[in-house]
Formats: sequence, structure tokens, C-alpha cells
Amino acid sequence: MTFLSVCDLCVRYGRVEALSGVSLSLREGEIVTVLGANGAGKSTLLRAVLGATPSQSGSMIFNGQDVTKLAAHERIARGIVLVPEGRRIAISLTIEENLLLGAHLRRDMVQIKKEIEGIYERFPNLGSRRNLLASCLSGGEQQMLAIGRAMLARPKVMMLDEPSLGLSPLFVTKVFDLIKELNRDGLSVLLVEQNAGKALAVAHSATVLELGRVMMSGDPQTLAADPRLQEAYLGEAST
Ligand SMILES: Nc1ncnc2c1ncn2[C@@H]1O[C@H](COP(=O)(O)OP(=O)(O)OP(=O)(O)O)[C@@H](O)[C@H]1O
Ligand SMILES: [Mg+2]
Repeated sequence: MTFLSVCDLCVRYGRVEALSGVSLSLREGEIVTVLGANGAGKSTLLRAVLGATPSQSGSMIFNGQDVTKLAAHERIARGIVLVPEGRRIAISLTIEENLLLGAHLRRDMVQIKKEIEGIYERFPNLGSRRNLLASCLSGGEQQMLAIGRAMLARPKVMMLDEPSLGLSPLFVTKVFDLIKELNRDGLSVLLVEQNAGKALAVAHSATVLELGRVMMSGDPQTLAADPRLQEAYLGEAST
């Protein structure tokens, strides 16, 4: 069953048309990846799905409800959560305070504390430094913190904007392993990636954006074998 469906989305920044009639759908429990060159509109798409960037037209159904007119905080409360490009960790706050930011729309403190402990179990590097400033973390650890923070918002669909960008090969593998693990636990994922090879390997479905339009979409194996995609995104740099 379709869980998230974006239909005919158009987003402009002044005269720049960043998205022109983009449609995309995700079934519950799936990983859908969105690929595309720099400036293709990938981040704009995720921010528009979150409701943080206004769209000129288009509609969006999530979990059986029309959410087109909802503000970002209302979409987050329904389970649409974004791990933004560049992670956006608050480096002047502690690791624990960063995690609590993810739960700011919630009031169930006891359960929140329990989930934070669960995150520390999953990421001992965060747990052992919970009261230190987030600035002490490496890029890879900050990405784990950003994902942990998003988990505290109780996502039903987690959108990740280039989570492996700038990370060491070890952390790239860790990030992809974590995405697979969260997905196995039932989380639906909308994943924007530059690392097309790895993204296609974990995804159930893929969409390629070019200059704000859907250039191709479908089954990841078919896309991975497509010469147009091979040429553009599956060069030696991405494997
Ligand atoms: N706030 C903004 N104001 C004006 N133009 C913007 C703004 N944000 C993005 N754009 C433009 O919209 C287009 C799509 O940008 P977007 O950031 O969504 O692309 P992207 O696919 O995420 O690129 P990247 O791979 O570099 O992250 C680009 O032409 C970009 O310059
Ligand atoms: Mg981007």
C-alpha cells in the first residue's frame, strides 16, 4: 500500500524552478532513494515533503491523509522526519541536549529517556560522551547523532539528505548498515544520496532527478544497469 505519495510537486525560488511536476511514492517499509546531480532539486524535494519549503502546487498524501496543507511541525508530529543535509548538529549543546531536540514535540519524558538510553546502547560513542558538547564528535559520530535525534521524533518515514557525504569509508558503511537496520525494524526511508551505487544496493525503489524533473524511476537493479545512470552517477567514485 502506498504510504507516502507526492503528486505533481512544483517549487520555485523566485525565478528558479527547483522542482517541476515531481511525483514519487513510497510503500510502507520501503527504502526509496532519490539520486541526481548537484542542483537537481533533491534537498528541495525533501524539504518540501517536510513542509519546510513551500510548494507552488502539488499534493501529498501520507498514511491515508491529505497533508498538503499541513505545516512542518504537524507533518513531523505525524511521523515525517528529516535528517538534513550537513547534519545540523547544535555544536554548542551537549550530545544529550541534541537528542532531546529531536523529542521537542513530545511530552512523554519517561519514554523519551528510555529511547535515549536505547540510542546510547546502539551508539556507545555517544553514550560515553552524553554530557560533552557535540563539537567533540567526529563527522561520522555527528551523523549518528543526527540520525539518533531524528529517531526521537518517532519517525514513520525518515528522510535522509546525503547522510554519507564527507564521511570516512568506515562511517559510510556504518551509516548504510544503520539505514538497513532501521528499515528492517519497520522504518520507511526516503534517502537522498550522492553515493548512487550504495544507495541503489539498499533501496527497494529509486528515482533520478534532473534539473527538477523526474528523469527515471523504478526498480534499483534496472536503474543501476541503465547506461544513462552508469555514465552520470555510477562512475568509479561511487563504488
Ligand atoms: N534557498 C534557495 N534560494 C534560491 N535558490 C535555491 C535555494 N535553494 C536551492 N536553490 C536552487 O534550487 C535548485 C535545486 O537545489 P537543491 O539544493 O534542492 O539541489 P540538490 O539536488 O539538493 O543539490 P546538492 O546535490 O548540491 O545538494 C538549485 O538550482 C539551487 O541553486
Ligand atoms: Mg542537496
